[in-house]
Amino acid sequence: MNVEYIQVGLQKIEVINGNGNPAQEASGAENGAEILIKKCAHLYCEIWREPPWYEDFWVPVKVVEDIMSQMNKSDSKFFLACSPAFPRPEVVGFTWGYGVTVEEMREICASDQLDMLFSDGKAVFYIDELGVALSHRKKGLGKKLSDFLLDSLSPGKIHRVTLRTDIAAVAARTLYTKIGFKELPAKDANYPDRTYWVKEL
Ligand SMILES: CC(C)(COP(=O)(O)OP(=O)(O)OC[C@H]1O[C@@H](n2cnc3c(N)ncnc32)[C@H](O)[C@@H]1OP(=O)(O)O)[C@@H](O)C(=O)NCCC(=O)NCCS
Repeated sequence: MNVEYIQVGLQKIEVINGNGNPAQEASGAENGAEILIKKCAHLYCEIWREPPWYEDFWVPVKVVEDIMSQMNKSDSKFFLACSPAFPRPEVVGFTWGYGVTVEEMREICASDQLDMLFSDGKAVFYIDELGVALSHRKKGLGKKLSDFLLDSLSPGKIHRVTLRTDIAAVAARTLYTKIGFKELPAKDANYPDRTYWVKEL
Protein backbone atom coordinates (compact mmCIF):
# COMPACT_ATOMS: atom_id res chain seq x y z
CA MET A 1 0.00 0.00 0.00
CA ASN A 2 1.39 3.35 -1.05
CA VAL A 3 1.02 5.17 2.25
CA GLU A 4 3.56 6.72 4.57
CA TYR A 5 3.09 7.11 8.28
CA ILE A 6 4.02 10.41 9.73
CA GLN A 7 4.57 11.31 13.33
CA VAL A 8 4.31 15.00 14.04
CA GLY A 9 5.27 16.62 17.30
CA LEU A 10 5.61 20.29 18.13
CA GLN A 11 9.39 20.10 18.17
CA LYS A 12 10.06 17.71 15.37
CA ILE A 13 8.56 16.03 12.37
CA GLU A 14 9.62 12.59 11.28
CA VAL A 15 8.27 10.86 8.24
CA ILE A 16 8.22 7.17 8.91
CA ASN A 17 7.75 4.87 5.96
CA GLY A 18 6.16 1.46 6.13
CA ASN A 19 9.44 -0.09 7.29
CA GLY A 20 9.80 2.34 10.15
CA ASN A 21 12.68 4.22 8.49
CA PRO A 22 12.69 8.00 8.78
CA ALA A 23 12.46 9.62 5.33
CA GLN A 24 14.78 12.54 4.80
CA GLU A 25 12.63 15.03 2.95
CA ALA A 26 10.59 16.26 5.89
CA SER A 27 12.98 15.95 8.83
CA GLY A 28 13.08 19.11 10.85
CA ALA A 29 10.61 20.87 8.56
CA GLU A 30 8.48 22.78 11.04
CA ASN A 31 6.57 24.40 8.22
CA GLY A 32 5.76 21.00 6.81
CA ALA A 33 4.29 20.01 10.16
CA GLU A 34 2.03 23.05 10.21
CA ILE A 35 0.73 22.31 6.73
CA LEU A 36 0.05 18.71 7.65
CA ILE A 37 -1.76 19.72 10.83
CA LYS A 38 -4.00 22.03 8.80
CA LYS A 39 -4.74 19.23 6.34
CA CYS A 40 -5.48 16.97 9.27
CA ALA A 41 -7.91 19.57 10.66
CA HIS A 42 -9.83 19.68 7.35
CA LEU A 43 -10.09 15.89 7.29
CA TYR A 44 -11.18 15.93 10.94
CA CYS A 45 -14.09 18.31 10.11
CA GLU A 46 -15.20 16.04 7.23
CA ILE A 47 -15.07 12.86 9.29
CA TRP A 48 -16.96 14.14 12.34
CA ARG A 49 -19.80 15.44 10.16
CA GLU A 50 -20.60 11.79 9.29
CA PRO A 51 -23.16 9.66 11.15
CA PRO A 52 -23.31 8.74 14.00
CA TRP A 53 -21.31 11.82 15.05
CA TYR A 54 -23.12 14.63 13.20
CA GLU A 55 -20.66 17.17 14.59
CA ASP A 56 -21.08 19.88 11.99
CA PHE A 57 -19.78 22.60 14.29
CA TRP A 58 -16.05 21.88 13.82
CA VAL A 59 -14.04 24.41 11.85
CA PRO A 60 -10.41 23.78 10.85
CA VAL A 61 -8.97 26.76 12.72
CA LYS A 62 -10.48 25.55 16.01
CA VAL A 63 -9.29 21.99 15.37
CA VAL A 64 -5.73 23.24 14.78
CA GLU A 65 -5.88 25.10 18.11
CA ASP A 66 -7.13 21.97 19.87
CA ILE A 67 -4.41 19.81 18.31
CA MET A 68 -1.72 22.27 19.40
CA SER A 69 -3.03 22.40 22.97
CA GLN A 70 -3.39 18.61 23.15
CA MET A 71 0.16 18.17 21.88
CA ASN A 72 1.33 20.11 24.92
CA LYS A 73 -0.23 17.58 27.30
CA SER A 74 1.90 15.03 29.08
CA ASP A 75 3.07 12.03 27.04
CA SER A 76 1.13 13.20 23.97
CA LYS A 77 1.40 11.18 20.76
CA PHE A 78 0.21 12.20 17.33
CA PHE A 79 0.25 10.06 14.20
CA LEU A 80 -0.86 10.91 10.71
CA ALA A 81 -1.27 8.59 7.77
CA CYS A 82 -0.44 10.30 4.51
CA SER A 83 -0.62 9.33 0.89
CA PRO A 84 2.30 10.80 -1.03
CA ALA A 85 1.18 13.64 -3.30
CA PHE A 86 3.09 16.51 -4.90
CA PRO A 87 4.33 18.80 -3.40
CA ARG A 88 3.34 17.52 0.03
CA PRO A 89 1.61 14.39 1.27
CA GLU A 90 -2.17 14.34 1.66
CA VAL A 91 -3.41 13.46 5.14
CA VAL A 92 -5.72 10.46 4.96
CA GLY A 93 -5.82 9.40 8.60
CA PHE A 94 -4.96 10.48 12.11
CA THR A 95 -4.84 9.38 15.68
CA TRP A 96 -3.69 11.12 18.81
CA GLY A 97 -3.86 10.95 22.57
CA TYR A 98 -2.15 11.90 25.81
CA GLY A 99 -1.62 10.89 29.41
CA VAL A 100 -4.47 11.82 31.75
CA THR A 101 -4.86 12.38 35.48
CA VAL A 102 -8.01 11.39 37.34
CA GLU A 103 -9.12 15.04 37.33
CA GLU A 104 -8.61 15.35 33.56
CA MET A 105 -10.55 12.12 33.01
CA ARG A 106 -13.42 13.50 35.08
CA GLU A 107 -13.52 16.52 32.79
CA ILE A 108 -13.51 14.34 29.68
CA CYS A 109 -16.36 12.04 30.78
CA ALA A 110 -18.14 14.69 32.88
CA SER A 111 -18.41 12.40 35.91
CA ASP A 112 -16.27 10.43 38.36
CA GLN A 113 -17.29 7.03 37.01
CA LEU A 114 -13.84 6.34 35.54
CA ASP A 115 -12.03 7.03 38.82
CA MET A 116 -11.53 3.26 39.15
CA LEU A 117 -9.04 3.36 36.26
CA PHE A 118 -6.71 5.27 38.58
CA SER A 119 -7.36 3.43 41.87
CA ASP A 120 -4.28 1.18 41.60
CA GLY A 121 -1.98 4.08 40.69
CA LYS A 122 -1.35 2.93 37.10
CA ALA A 123 -0.57 5.60 34.51
CA VAL A 124 -3.48 6.11 32.08
CA PHE A 125 -3.35 7.24 28.44
CA TYR A 126 -6.43 8.59 26.63
CA ILE A 127 -6.83 8.07 22.87
CA ASP A 128 -8.65 11.22 21.91
CA GLU A 129 -9.10 10.75 18.17
CA LEU A 130 -8.92 8.21 15.39
CA GLY A 131 -10.17 8.81 11.87
CA VAL A 132 -9.51 7.62 8.33
CA ALA A 133 -10.71 9.38 5.16
CA LEU A 134 -13.78 7.70 3.66
CA SER A 135 -11.84 7.01 0.44
CA HIS A 136 -9.11 5.11 2.34
CA ARG A 137 -11.19 2.97 4.69
CA LYS A 138 -11.08 -0.80 5.02
CA LYS A 139 -7.47 -0.98 3.86
CA GLY A 140 -5.99 -1.54 7.31
CA LEU A 141 -5.08 2.09 8.01
CA GLY A 142 -7.15 2.53 11.18
CA LYS A 143 -5.56 -0.56 12.67
CA LYS A 144 -2.08 0.48 11.60
CA LEU A 145 -2.47 3.96 13.09
CA SER A 146 -3.73 2.42 16.34
CA ASP A 147 -0.84 -0.06 16.40
CA PHE A 148 1.65 2.79 15.88
CA LEU A 149 0.11 4.74 18.75
CA LEU A 150 -0.02 1.80 21.15
CA ASP A 151 3.50 0.67 20.23
CA SER A 152 4.81 4.19 20.89
CA LEU A 153 3.68 4.19 24.52
CA SER A 154 6.73 3.57 26.66
CA PRO A 155 6.45 0.14 28.20
CA GLY A 156 6.59 0.46 31.97
CA LYS A 157 5.40 4.07 31.87
CA ILE A 158 1.85 3.83 30.55
CA HIS A 159 -0.04 0.81 31.86
CA ARG A 160 -3.60 1.43 30.76
CA VAL A 161 -5.24 3.00 27.71
CA THR A 162 -8.78 4.30 27.55
CA LEU A 163 -10.99 5.88 24.88
CA ARG A 164 -14.63 6.45 24.09
CA THR A 165 -16.69 5.72 21.05
CA ASP A 166 -20.33 5.73 19.98
CA ILE A 167 -22.50 2.63 20.41
CA ALA A 168 -23.47 3.01 16.71
CA ALA A 169 -19.87 3.33 15.45
CA VAL A 170 -19.66 -0.28 14.25
CA ALA A 171 -16.30 0.05 12.47
CA ALA A 172 -14.62 1.65 15.49
CA ARG A 173 -16.14 -0.85 17.94
CA THR A 174 -15.04 -3.80 15.81
CA LEU A 175 -11.55 -2.37 15.38
CA TYR A 176 -11.08 -1.61 19.09
CA THR A 177 -12.33 -5.07 20.06
CA LYS A 178 -9.90 -6.59 17.57
CA ILE A 179 -6.92 -4.80 19.11
CA GLY A 180 -7.77 -5.82 22.66
CA PHE A 181 -9.99 -3.09 24.10
CA LYS A 182 -12.93 -4.00 26.31
CA GLU A 183 -16.06 -1.93 26.66
CA LEU A 184 -16.76 -0.64 30.17
CA PRO A 185 -20.22 -0.13 31.64
CA ALA A 186 -19.51 3.59 31.60
CA LYS A 187 -21.41 6.11 29.48
CA ASP A 188 -20.29 9.65 28.91
CA ALA A 189 -22.45 12.02 30.97
CA ASN A 190 -22.66 14.55 28.13
CA TYR A 191 -22.98 12.00 25.29
CA PRO A 192 -24.97 9.02 26.63
CA ASP A 193 -24.52 7.10 23.34
CA ARG A 194 -20.76 7.05 23.86
CA THR A 195 -19.18 4.45 26.10
CA TYR A 196 -15.65 4.07 27.44
CA TRP A 197 -13.25 1.29 26.60
CA VAL A 198 -10.05 0.12 28.25
CA LYS A 199 -6.96 -1.91 27.37
CA GLU A 200 -4.25 -3.00 29.79
CA LEU A 201 -0.75 -2.85 28.30
C1 LIG B 1 -13.07 3.48 12.59
C2 LIG B 1 -12.15 3.78 11.44
C3 LIG B 1 -11.00 4.65 11.90
C4 LIG B 1 -11.59 2.43 10.90
O1 LIG B 1 -10.62 2.75 9.91
P1 LIG B 1 -10.24 1.73 8.74
O2 LIG B 1 -8.95 2.16 8.20
O3 LIG B 1 -11.37 1.62 7.79
O4 LIG B 1 -10.08 0.36 9.56
P2 LIG B 1 -9.20 -0.89 9.14
O5 LIG B 1 -9.24 -1.08 7.66
O6 LIG B 1 -7.87 -0.78 9.78
O7 LIG B 1 -10.00 -2.09 9.80
C5 LIG B 1 -9.54 -2.78 10.94
C6 LIG B 1 -10.63 -3.69 11.42
O8 LIG B 1 -11.76 -2.91 11.85
C7 LIG B 1 -12.96 -3.58 11.49
N1 LIG B 1 -13.74 -2.74 10.57
C8 LIG B 1 -13.29 -1.70 9.81
N2 LIG B 1 -14.33 -1.15 9.15
C9 LIG B 1 -15.42 -1.85 9.47
C10 LIG B 1 -16.80 -1.75 9.13
N3 LIG B 1 -17.25 -0.78 8.29
N4 LIG B 1 -17.67 -2.61 9.71
C11 LIG B 1 -17.25 -3.58 10.57
N5 LIG B 1 -15.93 -3.72 10.93
C12 LIG B 1 -15.06 -2.87 10.39
C13 LIG B 1 -12.57 -4.88 10.85
O9 LIG B 1 -12.50 -5.87 11.86
C14 LIG B 1 -11.20 -4.59 10.34
O10 LIG B 1 -10.39 -5.70 10.27
P3 LIG B 1 -10.50 -6.71 8.97
O11 LIG B 1 -10.40 -5.81 7.78
O12 LIG B 1 -9.31 -7.60 9.15
O13 LIG B 1 -11.80 -7.38 9.09
C15 LIG B 1 -12.93 4.48 10.25
O14 LIG B 1 -14.06 3.70 9.94
C16 LIG B 1 -13.37 5.90 10.58
O15 LIG B 1 -12.59 6.84 10.44
N6 LIG B 1 -14.63 6.05 11.02
C17 LIG B 1 -15.17 7.38 11.36
C18 LIG B 1 -14.54 7.96 12.60
C19 LIG B 1 -14.61 7.01 13.77
O16 LIG B 1 -15.59 6.33 14.00
N7 LIG B 1 -13.52 7.02 14.56
C20 LIG B 1 -13.38 6.21 15.76
C21 LIG B 1 -14.22 6.73 16.83
S1 LIG B 1 -13.38 7.27 18.21
